[in-house]
Amino acid sequence: MKFKKLIEDSAERKNSNIILALDLPFHEPAKRQELMAQASRIVDKVGKHVCAVKINHHLTLPLGVFDGVQELIRCVHEEELPVIMDCKVNDVGATNRVIAQYYYSAGFDALIANPFVGWDEGLQPVFELASALGKGVILLVFMSHKGAHEGYGQTVYDAETGEKTVQYKVFAKKALEWKADGAVVGAKWLDKIQETRCILKENVPIYSPGIGAQGGNAADAVKAGAHYLIVGREIIQSTDPSITAKKLSAISRAPHKKQEK
Ligand code: XMP
Repeated sequence: MKFKKLIEDSAERKNSNIILALDLPFHEPAKRQELMAQASRIVDKVGKHVCAVKINHHLTLPLGVFDGVQELIRCVHEEELPVIMDCKVNDVGATNRVIAQYYYSAGFDALIANPFVGWDEGLQPVFELASALGKGVILLVFMSHKGAHEGYGQTVYDAETGEKTVQYKVFAKKALEWKADGAVVGAKWLDKIQETRCILKENVPIYSPGIGAQGGNAADAVKAGAHYLIVGREIIQSTDPSITAKKLSAISRAPHKKQEK
């Protein structure tokens, strides 16, 4: 099944468009067991209120992809949740392909990639591999941090039209052209979410990180056009992660409730 459909079905099942960013703070390498146990406990508590789990270097570095994270992926899959690797693939094609091969063979259902490297000898091999394996590729369009403007917000010339435009609109068009499974736009940048949604319509869903700790507001991001909200610290560091995830899930489903009426 295509990743886009996999996560859509999961969101329906769980009644949530929240993706849990399973990020834990630095642990001394000797405390890897504790880190693993903590991560599993969070999945256990929060799993029923989210539609997917996103893993980052917070876990792959200390636990290892095949020594620890693969076991975690199995636990997440037991909760019937897809797992995304936030590795922001960003190298030459041959290397990108090997990176993707390892993550997909570990059990990840999708990975995040950076369109800055382009198609030819860049992300083409990753998209081809994903398509052959039935896995997903999600592209960065406009990152969530302040400095994102320096790269994703640059004024550039559109190679096709020869006209001035902004980098993120070019990336949004590439997400369409390359048939990406998702496009990442930071939750704080409501105008960018709206503009990206105008380009992508219902063809490529928007994934928005940056809720809470980074200053974004869940309801505003959804209203602007985000399909999925990626949330880490706001859930994990709250006094009751399960309740926080449940509250956010209700916000994330607001557009779907309207459709049902
Ligand atoms: P917090 O704790 O800020 O965690 O809710 C957010 C998670 O998402 C990652 N992140 C991004 N990933 N594009 C991405 O692909 C982005 O623009 C972006 N901004 C944040 C962050 O590393 C953490 O895992």
